[in-house]
This record gives sequence, structure tokens and C-alpha cells, in this order.
Amino acid sequence: MSRIAYVNGRYVPHREAAVHVEDRGYQFADGVYEVCEVRAGRLIDERRHMERLQRSLSELRIAMPMSLPALSVVLHEVVRRNGVRDGIVYLQITRGVAKRDHPFPPEGTRPAIVVTASRIDPAKIERFAADGIAVVTVPDNRWDRVDIKSIALLPNILAKQTAREQGAREAWFVDAAGNVTEGSSSNAWIVTSGNQVVTRTTDGTILKGITRTVLLDVLKAHDLTLVERPFTVAEAIGAREAFITSASQSVMPVVRIDGKPVGNGAPGLIATALRADFHSYAEKS
Ligand code: PDD
Repeated sequence: MSRIAYVNGRYVPHREAAVHVEDRGYQFADGVYEVCEVRAGRLIDERRHMERLQRSLSELRIAMPMSLPALSVVLHEVVRRNGVRDGIVYLQITRGVAKRDHPFPPEGTRPAIVVTASRIDPAKIERFAADGIAVVTVPDNRWDRVDIKSIALLPNILAKQTAREQGAREAWFVDAAGNVTEGSSSNAWIVTSGNQVVTRTTDGTILKGITRTVLLDVLKAHDLTLVERPFTVAEAIGAREAFITSASQSVMPVVRIDGKPVGNGAPGLIATALRADFHSYAEKS
């Protein structure tokens, strides 16, 4: 099946899908995005992802290019046309196409929208989850609006590349006080020796992950105590368990941090149980 992308109102062959050279996303990273998991052909937590999208857009004063119900049709249609059963659907909205000039473009410039879908082999993710992943830490050198899911991801890309070059799957950003903020494309969690589940509060220093939000419900159902507070790299290395959350990986155990084993060096029981249960609490559409 050949891949199809949605670009500004048209479904086009993926290899011909293109945006204008003066798209402000291309020139300035002036745009936002969302990534939704697709599982068994259904979107996971679409409603919450669309709520966050609207928030990101409104913080940047970019208009929604179409109504939410119309956008939902497009998301499902791109998934369907690409025959994606398991994978992700990617949505990007930019401030549109205009002569390159830093201030906002003239009134009436239409936001540009792109939607793509890709398959991810669930067995591959499951293998990572069974082994657990390694993370490395890097200084958090991002801007102070990381609560907006903007496409300006240069620090995240450099962090992820550092991780890959060191044989790790993810990089954890560390703030000036030595506390972990979040991963380059995930939220960061630990489990203490007292079985408290700890993650940073959504105080503007992290992206409010949708997986993170849903996991709070899973924690309640499992009678686990959630503590929203910062934790240091040393505390994470000494923790009983560590894990990350994101739309494409749900709950992924972390077994090494900066080359040092976490707990007994194997995926933790709590992370594994939360992973197993996550999708019973997520919304499907
Ligand atoms: N990343 N923090 C950052 C910096 C992220 O980029 C992401 C998501 C998350 C987790 O958010 P959620 O649970 O809503 O996926 C946290 C997506 C998946 C990406 O960039 O591909």
C-alpha cells in the first residue's frame, strides 16, 4: 500500500507531499505538532491530544485551520488510507506561508496543516520494553516555554543524538539545580524504595504528556502513591525503578542511567504492570 499524506486540504502520495519554501514552519519552526498512538487501527487519547493542540496553538496565537470534528475525520482518514494498524499519526500546524519576515504574517494568512501516519512494529517496542532501555543525561538548554508542543526541537534532537551515540534510547534533560526535567521526547519517572511513584510537576518546565496524564488514573487504580516533585540524577540511579512515558512507547522501563544500573538492572515490576494496564485506561476513537 503506497503512503498518503494530508497537506493543506489534499490527500497526496507521500513522496510528492511538500510544503512551500516560505512555510513559516520550515523557515522559523513557527508551528506546533501532536503525535497520537494508533493501536489496532484506533487513535489513542485523541480528545486529550486535540485539547493540548488547541492550547499550544492559542499560546502561539495560531488559528485552528479547521474544526475539531473535521480534523478528527482527517486524522482517521490518513490512518485508514495508509492501512496503519499500529503506529502513530503525526499532525503539524504552522503559521502558514508568507514572505520571510519575523513578525506575524498579514491578517488572513492561512495556517498550514500536514498529517502523516506511520507504522511501528509493536513487537519491536515490546522487545525494548522487555529488556528496558538506557538513558543518558544532558543539560536542559531549552527555552522556557517547553509546555508548548512546538516544532522547534533542536535541543531535543541534539540530546537524542547524544543518547544514540552513547548506545542509549533516550536522553534526560537536567536543570541547573541538578534535577531531571524530562526526556527529549518523553516524560521521566522513578519509583522509590517505598514504592512511591515520582514525576516532576507540570510547572512549565516539562511538556504535560498525555500518557503522563492517563497514567495518573492507572496509578490510582493500582493504589499507588503519586508524588509530583523534582528528583536528581543520583536519586534516579539509586531508585528502585525508572521509566519514561510517551504516546509512541506508553510506559517504557529504564534500566541504565549514564551507564549505571537502576535497581537490579532489569525492568521494574511496577513499570511493567503499569505498561500492561495502560491501554485499558486510555480513550480509543
Ligand atoms: N513526544 N516530553 C516531550 C519533550 C515530548 O516530546 C513528549 C512526546 C512527551 C510525552 O508526551 P505524550 O505522552 O503526550 O506523548 C514529553 C512525542 C511522542 C514525539 O515527539 O514524538
